Amino acid sequence: MTHITDIPSLPDVLPPSRRYDRLAVFFHWSVFLLIALAYAAVELKGNFAKGTPPRALAMAVHEWAGVMVLGLALPRLLWRLLRGAPAPEPGRRLMQLAGEAMHWVLYLFILAQPLLGLLAINAGGHLLALPQLGIEIPALVGADPALKDTVKEIHETLGTAFYLVIGLHAMAALFHHYMLGDNTLRRMLR
Ligand code: HEM
Ligand code: HEM
Repeated sequence: MTHITDIPSLPDVLPPSRRYDRLAVFFHWSVFLLIALAYAAVELKGNFAKGTPPRALAMAVHEWAGVMVLGLALPRLLWRLLRGAPAPEPGRRLMQLAGEAMHWVLYLFILAQPLLGLLAINAGGHLLALPQLGIEIPALVGADPALKDTVKEIHETLGTAFYLVIGLHAMAALFHHYMLGDNTLRRMLR
Protein backbone atom coordinates (compact mmCIF):
# COMPACT_ATOMS: atom_id res chain seq x y z
CA MET A 1 0.00 0.00 0.00
CA THR A 2 1.31 3.45 -0.87
CA HIS A 3 1.45 5.73 2.14
CA ILE A 4 0.93 9.44 1.62
CA THR A 5 4.49 10.17 2.87
CA ASP A 6 5.91 7.87 0.15
CA ILE A 7 4.75 10.22 -2.59
CA PRO A 8 7.72 12.43 -3.53
CA SER A 9 7.11 16.16 -3.10
CA LEU A 10 6.66 17.99 -6.41
CA PRO A 11 10.13 19.58 -6.67
CA ASP A 12 11.79 16.18 -6.33
CA VAL A 13 10.00 14.76 -9.34
CA LEU A 14 11.44 17.41 -11.64
CA PRO A 15 14.47 15.93 -13.42
CA PRO A 16 17.70 17.97 -13.09
CA SER A 17 17.45 19.11 -16.73
CA ARG A 18 14.15 20.87 -15.94
CA ARG A 19 15.20 22.71 -12.77
CA TYR A 20 17.83 25.10 -11.46
CA ASP A 21 20.61 23.43 -9.47
CA ARG A 22 21.08 24.03 -5.74
CA LEU A 23 23.75 26.66 -6.16
CA ALA A 24 21.66 28.67 -8.65
CA VAL A 25 18.71 28.49 -6.22
CA PHE A 26 20.95 29.61 -3.34
CA PHE A 27 22.27 32.54 -5.39
CA HIS A 28 18.79 33.61 -6.48
CA TRP A 29 17.20 33.72 -3.02
CA SER A 30 20.20 35.08 -1.11
CA VAL A 31 20.51 37.94 -3.61
CA PHE A 32 16.76 38.51 -3.31
CA LEU A 33 16.99 38.77 0.51
CA LEU A 34 19.97 41.14 0.38
CA ILE A 35 18.23 43.38 -2.16
CA ALA A 36 15.10 43.43 0.01
CA LEU A 37 17.32 44.42 2.97
CA ALA A 38 19.07 47.16 0.94
CA TYR A 39 15.70 48.59 -0.13
CA ALA A 40 14.22 48.37 3.38
CA ALA A 41 17.25 50.07 4.95
CA VAL A 42 17.34 52.98 2.50
CA GLU A 43 13.58 53.52 2.94
CA LEU A 44 13.91 53.38 6.74
CA LYS A 45 16.76 55.89 6.65
CA GLY A 46 14.29 58.61 5.64
CA ASN A 47 12.58 58.31 9.07
CA PHE A 48 15.64 59.53 10.98
CA ALA A 49 17.07 63.04 11.19
CA LYS A 50 20.29 63.84 9.36
CA GLY A 51 23.44 63.18 11.38
CA THR A 52 21.77 60.78 13.85
CA PRO A 53 23.25 57.30 14.58
CA PRO A 54 20.15 55.35 13.43
CA ARG A 55 20.31 57.10 10.05
CA ALA A 56 24.00 56.27 9.70
CA LEU A 57 23.27 52.66 10.68
CA ALA A 58 20.46 52.35 8.12
CA MET A 59 22.78 53.72 5.43
CA ALA A 60 25.58 51.33 6.46
CA VAL A 61 23.16 48.38 6.27
CA HIS A 62 22.08 49.60 2.81
CA GLU A 63 25.66 49.85 1.57
CA TRP A 64 26.92 46.56 3.00
CA ALA A 65 23.87 44.59 1.89
CA GLY A 66 24.40 46.14 -1.55
CA VAL A 67 28.08 45.23 -1.64
CA MET A 68 27.20 41.66 -0.66
CA VAL A 69 24.83 41.58 -3.65
CA LEU A 70 27.82 42.41 -5.85
CA GLY A 71 29.94 39.77 -4.06
CA LEU A 72 27.31 37.15 -4.92
CA ALA A 73 26.40 38.52 -8.36
CA LEU A 74 29.87 37.91 -9.78
CA PRO A 75 30.13 34.16 -8.97
CA ARG A 76 26.43 33.83 -9.77
CA LEU A 77 26.87 35.19 -13.28
CA LEU A 78 29.92 33.00 -13.80
CA TRP A 79 27.94 29.93 -12.65
CA ARG A 80 25.10 30.86 -14.99
CA LEU A 81 27.46 31.26 -17.95
CA LEU A 82 29.16 27.94 -17.18
CA ARG A 83 26.07 25.87 -16.33
CA GLY A 84 23.35 27.55 -18.39
CA ALA A 85 19.69 27.39 -17.36
CA PRO A 86 17.03 24.70 -17.79
CA ALA A 87 14.97 25.05 -20.98
CA PRO A 88 11.91 27.23 -20.30
CA GLU A 89 8.61 25.60 -19.39
CA PRO A 90 6.40 24.97 -22.46
CA GLY A 91 4.64 28.12 -23.61
CA ARG A 92 4.56 30.76 -26.31
CA ARG A 93 8.02 31.48 -27.74
CA LEU A 94 7.54 35.25 -27.45
CA MET A 95 6.80 34.97 -23.72
CA GLN A 96 9.81 32.69 -23.22
CA LEU A 97 12.06 35.23 -24.97
CA ALA A 98 10.59 38.07 -22.89
CA GLY A 99 11.32 36.07 -19.72
CA GLU A 100 14.88 35.43 -20.79
CA ALA A 101 15.45 39.08 -21.70
CA MET A 102 14.09 40.07 -18.28
CA HIS A 103 16.59 37.72 -16.61
CA TRP A 104 19.56 39.38 -18.35
CA VAL A 105 18.24 42.81 -17.36
CA LEU A 106 18.12 41.59 -13.75
CA TYR A 107 21.68 40.24 -13.97
CA LEU A 108 22.82 43.61 -15.28
CA PHE A 109 21.04 45.33 -12.40
CA ILE A 110 22.60 43.22 -9.63
CA LEU A 111 26.05 44.01 -11.05
CA ALA A 112 25.58 47.66 -12.02
CA GLN A 113 23.50 48.95 -9.10
CA PRO A 114 25.99 48.12 -6.30
CA LEU A 115 28.90 49.31 -8.49
CA LEU A 116 27.14 52.65 -9.03
CA GLY A 117 26.51 52.93 -5.28
CA LEU A 118 30.18 52.28 -4.53
CA LEU A 119 31.24 54.76 -7.21
CA ALA A 120 28.98 57.42 -5.67
CA ILE A 121 30.53 56.89 -2.23
CA ASN A 122 34.11 56.99 -3.58
CA ALA A 123 33.52 59.97 -5.86
CA GLY A 124 32.08 61.73 -2.80
CA GLY A 125 35.50 61.31 -1.19
CA HIS A 126 34.57 58.40 1.11
CA LEU A 127 35.61 54.78 1.46
CA LEU A 128 33.27 51.94 2.36
CA ALA A 129 34.89 50.56 5.50
CA LEU A 130 34.28 48.79 8.80
CA PRO A 131 37.31 50.03 10.75
CA GLN A 132 36.36 47.95 13.84
CA LEU A 133 36.85 44.79 11.74
CA GLY A 134 39.74 46.17 9.70
CA ILE A 135 37.67 45.86 6.50
CA GLU A 136 38.02 48.44 3.75
CA ILE A 137 36.79 48.25 0.16
CA PRO A 138 39.45 49.88 -2.07
CA ALA A 139 38.25 53.07 -3.80
CA LEU A 140 37.22 52.63 -7.44
CA VAL A 141 37.79 56.35 -8.18
CA GLY A 142 39.14 59.42 -6.40
CA ALA A 143 37.01 62.30 -5.10
CA ASP A 144 35.08 63.94 -7.96
CA PRO A 145 31.99 65.96 -6.95
CA ALA A 146 30.56 66.21 -10.50
CA LEU A 147 30.89 62.43 -11.03
CA LYS A 148 29.36 61.84 -7.61
CA ASP A 149 26.23 63.85 -8.46
CA THR A 150 25.75 62.11 -11.81
CA VAL A 151 26.35 58.59 -10.52
CA LYS A 152 24.19 59.10 -7.44
CA GLU A 153 21.33 60.29 -9.61
CA ILE A 154 21.61 57.26 -11.90
CA HIS A 155 21.79 54.96 -8.84
CA GLU A 156 18.67 56.52 -7.32
CA THR A 157 16.71 56.48 -10.59
CA LEU A 158 17.65 52.84 -11.30
CA GLY A 159 16.82 51.92 -7.69
CA THR A 160 13.36 53.42 -8.05
CA ALA A 161 12.75 51.96 -11.53
CA PHE A 162 13.67 48.47 -10.37
CA TYR A 163 10.88 48.37 -7.82
CA LEU A 164 8.72 48.04 -10.90
CA VAL A 165 10.98 45.63 -12.83
CA ILE A 166 11.42 43.32 -9.82
CA GLY A 167 7.68 43.54 -9.14
CA LEU A 168 6.90 42.49 -12.73
CA HIS A 169 9.40 39.61 -12.51
CA ALA A 170 7.87 38.37 -9.24
CA MET A 171 4.33 38.74 -10.60
CA ALA A 172 5.28 36.75 -13.70
CA ALA A 173 6.60 33.96 -11.45
CA LEU A 174 3.39 33.94 -9.41
CA PHE A 175 1.27 34.04 -12.58
CA HIS A 176 3.08 30.95 -13.90
CA HIS A 177 2.60 29.17 -10.60
CA TYR A 178 -1.01 30.01 -9.76
CA MET A 179 -2.64 30.76 -13.13
CA LEU A 180 -0.71 28.60 -15.63
CA GLY A 181 0.10 25.90 -13.06
CA ASP A 182 3.52 25.12 -14.58
CA ASN A 183 6.88 24.45 -12.86
CA THR A 184 8.48 27.88 -13.39
CA LEU A 185 8.48 28.79 -9.68
CA ARG A 186 8.96 25.23 -8.40
CA ARG A 187 12.18 24.81 -10.37
CA MET A 188 13.66 27.85 -8.60
CA LEU A 189 12.76 26.45 -5.14
CA ARG A 190 14.35 23.70 -3.08
C1 HEM B 1 21.55 46.04 -5.28
C2 HEM B 1 21.97 46.90 -4.40
C3 HEM B 1 21.37 48.28 -4.20
C4 HEM B 1 20.10 48.74 -4.41
C5 HEM B 1 18.88 47.96 -4.88
C6 HEM B 1 20.09 50.15 -4.08
C7 HEM B 1 18.98 50.97 -4.15
C8 HEM B 1 18.95 52.29 -3.72
C9 HEM B 1 17.76 53.10 -3.62
C10 HEM B 1 16.35 52.64 -3.95
C11 HEM B 1 18.14 54.32 -3.17
C12 HEM B 1 17.24 55.51 -2.81
C13 HEM B 1 16.75 56.23 -3.99
C14 HEM B 1 15.96 57.45 -3.59
O1 HEM B 1 16.04 57.89 -2.43
O2 HEM B 1 15.27 57.96 -4.45
C15 HEM B 1 19.57 54.30 -2.98
C16 HEM B 1 20.30 55.36 -2.52
C17 HEM B 1 21.66 55.29 -2.26
N1 HEM B 1 22.45 54.17 -2.33
FE1 HEM B 1 21.92 52.36 -3.01
N2 HEM B 1 21.35 50.51 -3.69
C18 HEM B 1 22.16 49.40 -3.73
C19 HEM B 1 23.49 49.33 -3.41
C20 HEM B 1 24.26 50.37 -2.92
C21 HEM B 1 25.65 50.30 -2.57
C22 HEM B 1 26.53 49.04 -2.68
C23 HEM B 1 26.02 51.53 -2.14
C24 HEM B 1 27.33 52.02 -1.65
C25 HEM B 1 28.33 51.29 -1.27
C26 HEM B 1 24.85 52.39 -2.22
C27 HEM B 1 24.82 53.73 -1.89
C28 HEM B 1 23.73 54.54 -1.97
C29 HEM B 1 23.75 55.96 -1.65
C30 HEM B 1 24.97 56.76 -1.20
C31 HEM B 1 22.46 56.43 -1.83
C32 HEM B 1 21.95 57.85 -1.61
C33 HEM B 1 21.34 57.96 -0.25
C34 HEM B 1 20.93 59.38 0.05
O3 HEM B 1 21.80 60.21 0.13
O4 HEM B 1 19.73 59.61 0.22
N3 HEM B 1 23.79 51.65 -2.70
N4 HEM B 1 20.03 53.05 -3.31
C1 HEM C 1 15.62 41.17 -6.04
C2 HEM C 1 14.79 40.47 -6.65
C3 HEM C 1 15.08 39.48 -7.74
C4 HEM C 1 16.10 39.39 -8.65
C5 HEM C 1 17.28 40.34 -8.82
C6 HEM C 1 15.86 38.20 -9.45
C7 HEM C 1 16.69 37.76 -10.48
C8 HEM C 1 16.48 36.66 -11.24
C9 HEM C 1 17.31 36.22 -12.34
C10 HEM C 1 18.57 36.93 -12.80
C11 HEM C 1 16.78 35.07 -12.83
C12 HEM C 1 17.32 34.25 -14.00
C13 HEM C 1 18.03 33.03 -13.49
C14 HEM C 1 18.83 32.35 -14.56
O1 HEM C 1 18.28 31.95 -15.59
O2 HEM C 1 20.04 32.21 -14.37
C15 HEM C 1 15.61 34.77 -12.05
C16 HEM C 1 14.80 33.68 -12.23
C17 HEM C 1 13.66 33.44 -11.51
N1 HEM C 1 13.12 34.23 -10.51
FE1 HEM C 1 13.91 35.91 -9.78
N2 HEM C 1 14.71 37.59 -9.01
C18 HEM C 1 14.21 38.34 -7.97
C19 HEM C 1 13.06 38.10 -7.25
C20 HEM C 1 12.20 37.06 -7.47
C21 HEM C 1 10.97 36.81 -6.75
C22 HEM C 1 10.42 37.69 -5.61
C23 HEM C 1 10.42 35.68 -7.28
C24 HEM C 1 9.14 34.96 -6.92
C25 HEM C 1 8.05 35.50 -6.49
C26 HEM C 1 11.31 35.22 -8.31
C27 HEM C 1 11.13 34.09 -9.06
C28 HEM C 1 11.97 33.64 -10.06
C29 HEM C 1 11.74 32.42 -10.81
C30 HEM C 1 10.57 31.46 -10.64
C31 HEM C 1 12.79 32.29 -11.72
C32 HEM C 1 12.99 31.18 -12.76
C33 HEM C 1 12.34 31.60 -14.02
C34 HEM C 1 12.44 30.54 -15.10
O3 HEM C 1 12.65 29.39 -14.78
O4 HEM C 1 12.30 30.88 -16.28
N3 HEM C 1 12.38 36.07 -8.41
N4 HEM C 1 15.43 35.75 -11.10
